[in-house]
Amino acid sequence: MESGSGDNGGIVISAPGKVILHGEHAVVYGKVALAVSLNLRTYLELKDTENNEVRLDLPDIELHRVWKLEDMSVIFESFTGGDITQPGPPTSEQLAHLKELAGIKKEEDSEVKYLAVIAFLYIYLGICSHKRKSKLPSLCLRVNSNLPTGAGLGSSAAFSVCLASSLLTYCGAVKTLDVEKESHFGRWSQENLETINNWAYEAERIIHGTPSGIDNSISTYGGAINFRRITDKDGKVTPKIVPLERVPLLRILLVNTKVPRSTKVLVANVRKKLEKYPDIIGPILDSIEGIANTCEKLFADSGDNNDNTAAIEELEELIDINQHHLASIGVSHPALQQVCQISAKYGLHCKLTGAGGGGCAVTLLRKDTSQGSIDEIQKELKSIGFDCWETSIGGPGVTLHRNIHRELSEGASAAIPKALLEGL
Ligand code: MEV
Repeated sequence: MESGSGDNGGIVISAPGKVILHGEHAVVYGKVALAVSLNLRTYLELKDTENNEVRLDLPDIELHRVWKLEDMSVIFESFTGGDITQPGPPTSEQLAHLKELAGIKKEEDSEVKYLAVIAFLYIYLGICSHKRKSKLPSLCLRVNSNLPTGAGLGSSAAFSVCLASSLLTYCGAVKTLDVEKESHFGRWSQENLETINNWAYEAERIIHGTPSGIDNSISTYGGAINFRRITDKDGKVTPKIVPLERVPLLRILLVNTKVPRSTKVLVANVRKKLEKYPDIIGPILDSIEGIANTCEKLFADSGDNNDNTAAIEELEELIDINQHHLASIGVSHPALQQVCQISAKYGLHCKLTGAGGGGCAVTLLRKDTSQGSIDEIQKELKSIGFDCWETSIGGPGVTLHRNIHRELSEGASAAIPKALLEGL
């Protein structure tokens, strides 16, 4: 097994959350979207055990599950075969087995946290049956995150990417690059990242229904990307992911309204609206793509020049137009509008990010926004119950941590969830 954390021979992997700058919802229909990774990450620790069980602990959402390997032996058979680099969705027979194994009651059927259990079982069985033809491995996986769940910051995608990369690495289906051996961090070849991303996408499909794949892609690759789904004439969908050449040093304020919402429901509602009013909603989605393209061009033209006031003003205009578009397709929320209004009082511009309907908004800070103003706006937002934090964007994608204790001694503790450290 590839060593991750050092001391106990387990694997420790992390993957980032994301902010969609422009293109949410439109991206589901093959339009361009721009996404950046966040410095908030999910961490997964995988350990070999000898108790003939597989255990999944998600303490952040109080979910702890254990399965005996012998109970998986029937279903195991139906997972062997296929190309490990190109997974597909579970068959209806597999899905029925997975639900039974997950022991989910009817009323919990569509709850994200239970769908996450099914996604885990699918990834575990799918990957491990490829590589361990005769016997499933006895494992314990624990996941801790700095990302709020269901807030539009890609927490389920970061979870899916951690699951896929840890199990693929554990089984030897992907390998971190040799050149990185001396480093605390391990990363994978482009080809291996594609395999990780493909599996993470299948997990996301189980959790969210018909996601575009942008969330798992930015979590896998990190940085800043231009993302588009391409459908060929046979209906096969492939993601086209192009790293952005330039992104100016943006300062943003992330605001979590804490209003709960479901990505699956919001995406389905937009689809219904598009089907009902194709001539009205279609052009709005086209215009959202126009905004993403214009923004990318602005980034490319302004480069590292953060003093470019004209470019910042254009970025602000694009944010306003997009927020109105998103409201008109029905995915804003009074709490999100409130964040926009408060931002406007300070001369700042804001839009929802992710699926909307609650969750998070992002406010673009100006170079000349004083610390005093930022403190005041944060105070006002917090006083009405919202969480907010100034954050940096564009960090690395999925990463293997070879020596998390060393990282800690070098000052990385703020980024690593305390609960993860307690178990190491
Ligand atoms: C979710 O982060 C963004 C949406 O566009 C859905 C998706 O792309 O899967 C709303």
